[in-house]
Parts: sequence; C-alpha cells; structure tokens
Amino acid sequence: MNVSIILAAGEGTRMKSKKTKVLHEVCGKPLLDYVIRASKGAKVEKNIVIVGRDGEQVKGHFKGENLEFKTQPMGEGHPYGTGFAAMQAVPYIEDSSTVIILSGDTPLITEDTIEKMFNYHRENNFDGTVLTTILEEPTGYGRIIRGEGGHVSKIVEERDANPEEKAIKEINSGIFCFRGKLLKYALSKIDNENAQNEYYLTDVIEVLKNEGYKIGAHIIVDSNEIHGVNSRRQLAFCEEIMRRRINKRHMDDGVTIVNPDNTYIEDGVSIGRDTIIYPGVSIKGDTKIGEDCVISGDTTIIDSIIQPRVTIRSSLVEGSIVGQGTTIGPYAHLRPNSKIGENVSIGNFVEVKNSNIKDNTKANHLAYIGDADIGHNVNIGCAVVFVNYNGKEKFRTTVGDNAFVGSNSNLVAPVEVKSWGYVAAGSTITKEVKEGELSIARARQVNIPNWVERKGLKK
Ligand code: UD1
Ligand code: CA
Repeated sequence: MNVSIILAAGEGTRMKSKKTKVLHEVCGKPLLDYVIRASKGAKVEKNIVIVGRDGEQVKGHFKGENLEFKTQPMGEGHPYGTGFAAMQAVPYIEDSSTVIILSGDTPLITEDTIEKMFNYHRENNFDGTVLTTILEEPTGYGRIIRGEGGHVSKIVEERDANPEEKAIKEINSGIFCFRGKLLKYALSKIDNENAQNEYYLTDVIEVLKNEGYKIGAHIIVDSNEIHGVNSRRQLAFCEEIMRRRINKRHMDDGVTIVNPDNTYIEDGVSIGRDTIIYPGVSIKGDTKIGEDCVISGDTTIIDSIIQPRVTIRSSLVEGSIVGQGTTIGPYAHLRPNSKIGENVSIGNFVEVKNSNIKDNTKANHLAYIGDADIGHNVNIGCAVVFVNYNGKEKFRTTVGDNAFVGSNSNLVAPVEVKSWGYVAAGSTITKEVKEGELSIARARQVNIPNWVERKGLKK
C-alpha cells in the first residue's frame, strides 16, 4: 500500500501570522489543499496528515474528506521538528507500505511528479528516495550531500551547513519515499543535536546510509514545483506560479485572457470557451462562467454562476446567478442571493440584493433593489429605491410583469406593483398598485405666478 505522511503541524513562525501556515491560501485554496490533492491524484491510498496547535481548524476545513489526522503534541516540554512530526504517524505505518512524505507547505507539487518519484524509487530498488532539484539560489533549503556512486549520504540544513556545503545547489524538496519498515527504524535513531534543537526528518537519510541502505535522489527539472512557503514573500511567489498555471489551463481550454499577468482566477473556477477576460478581473471561489461572455474592468466575481453571453463591466458580483445575454455594470453590485434572468440590463451604480429579476427587465441607473421579486419586461427607472428595512425588520416587494416604475420612486415594502402597474416618477408607494393602474404618490405641483417679482428678488 502507498501511504503518505503530510507534515502540517509546524508553527510557521516566519509567516508572522495568527493563522496556521498550511491554511494560508494560494489562488483561493489553502496550501495544504493542493498537497493533499496531488497525493490523492498520485493514487496514494492512505493519507495521514500531521496537525499541530490549530489542528481542529485544519480538520474542520477538510471535513468529510478521506484523510487521517494525527496530532503532534506542541508547546513547552515537547520536541519539535519535521522528524518529530513524522514520528506521530509511526504506529499507523505498516512495514510493507511504501511511505511518501510530503510537506503541507509546498503547494506547487504535482501528482505527476509524485508518481514519477514513486516509479523511480521502485525501479531502482532504493530503500529511500529524496526528491531534489537544483536551485541557483538555494538559501534556506537543506543541501543534498552525495557520496560514493552518487548516492545520497546525508542532508544538511542551512543552519548547520559549513561554507562548502552551503555552496551546494542541489536541495531537498522535503518530499521522500521510504520503505515503511526502514522509515520507522530510522526515525527511532535520530536526535535533536543540531543548530535548532529539532528532530530533523532529513537525518533519517544519514542513519540509513550508515547502515548500508541505498538512498536515491530523483531530480526534477521544473524546480518551481518544490518551492516551499515559509514567508509571505514565498507565499506571493507560489501564488504567481499557481496563477500562471491556472490561466494557462483556461487559455488551453479556449478562453481569451488578454493579459494573464494581471488576471486573477482562483483554483475552483470554470470558464466556457470564447469568453474574453480583460486585465484587472478577479474570479473567485466556486464560480462558473459560460461561453462567449465578456468580463472587463475592475470586476470581481465570487461564488456565482454566469450563463453564456453575459457582459460584465467594472462590477462586483457575489453569490448570484446571471442569466444569458444579460449585461451588468459598469459599477453595479450584485449582492448574495440575486437571481438575474436573461437579457436583463443592470446598469450604472445599481445595487441588487437577495432579489429575483426576470427576463428582459431593465434597471439602468442608480437603483437599490433589495429583497424584491421583479417580473419580466419591467422598467425600473433611475434612482428607484426598494425600501426594504424599517430599522428592525426586512420586507419584500413584488413588481409584476410589464410594470413601469418611474424614476426617483420609493417602493416601501411590503408592497406590490401588479403587472402592467405604472408608478409615476417621484412617487413613494406604500399601497398596492393594481393591474393597469397609474399611481401618483407625491404632492401635487402648485405654480405661484409672479412670485419672484413680488419678493423683489429680480433687480
Ligand atoms: C524543510 C527541510 C529542508 C527542506 C525544506 C523544503 C527539515 C529539517 N528540513 O525545511 O531540508 O529543504 O523543508 O521545503 O526537514 N512541520 C511539522 N512539525 C514540526 C515542524 C514542521 O509538522 O514540528 C511541518 C511544517 O508544517 C511544514 C513542514 O513540516 O509543512 C516543513 O517544515 P518547515 O519548518 O517549513 O521546514 P523547512 O525549514 O522549510
Ligand atoms: Ca518549509
């Protein structure tokens, strides 16, 4: 059986964060998410995740997934280090298993690389294999020391390395394969006599080598895959690489991304063919975008479904559904739970919240539509306000098909404008408007002749 031990208990001190490191996000998903996915993708049957102080939070995030969690004891009096973390899994590892060790902080690793490493490990009959790469700037990583026959003889951490070792550019990715039995044995032999007083997992290599076991190194060419996240700067670096990967995938699938370096699409997003995305757009969370859409300007779309042929300009769309052929913006805001029909027009400075708007309806300028059910073919004039809140409770407003709500009107909920109901501009509607009625709810206009002259205002 293939078993993974995924190390995710570290304190992440260098992040200077209140949040546990492996839950920091790259392109909208926690670092650990990507590592687990790669491991499962490489057909690792059992995945043991070692969690620490914020273990409950980490477990909460992966609720319902097929994972085993083991907690590394933390705090005063407890040892620390990747070796100690791996020891937490020892009771659950069978001698005959092939164990792969992964770091929860290397999100760019791919299932393909893990599979290749497995094969390399097996084909060469190694007792242990470490995944390495060559870095021009190896600072911070453990260095690979090779001995006789090019086999790995040990790994030296940056802080324990002498100048000669520091000059080595082959580094430890933190990803290993071991025979279960040998890993368990070697972990029982390591100590914490080093610069950081930590149990280093990397010391397992030297233990095994000294007993005559054969340790291989699988070098990957695309060193990007093994970049770890220890600091915010490295987090940004991984974000950039992941962003390029995601954008490349969409472009390969037929999406036009005008400037991929300035387009932010999170991991869980899907986009249909021939959709065009202009620079500055962010698409986040669980969002699905159909074919032939055009999305431009300072637009952010979160957790929404955008059907085909929709145009969105410089707008914020959250938790909403937008029907085919509809146009949104510029400067519109669809707040959660808005369901917009087909060929609708939501224009400049229009805010919609928790509302249903049916096909062919227009709200082109400066309106607030909150808690409303609006029918087909309705015209919502400029600056109409759906008054949904009395300071304590919220109420809904209904506007029937083909109704017309004149500019600068207030619809005070709960209220209904029936289909073909007309509301005159500037009205404040508090009572039902029946089918076919025109409702004028404003003071009558009074014109006073010669008023200016009488007041002596005109010299
Ligand atoms: C580690 C390796 C280094 C390698 C680098 C690759 C060791 C001693 N060093 O260094 O050779 O080049 O990864 O990225 O292994 N963790 C625990 N419990 C702990 C400490 C850490 O679970 O007590 C976890 C962390 O959450 C992290 C992983 O182990 O996911 C690696 O720990 P980290 O402190 O980041 O190790 P590095 O200094 O990066
Ligand atoms: Ca690290």
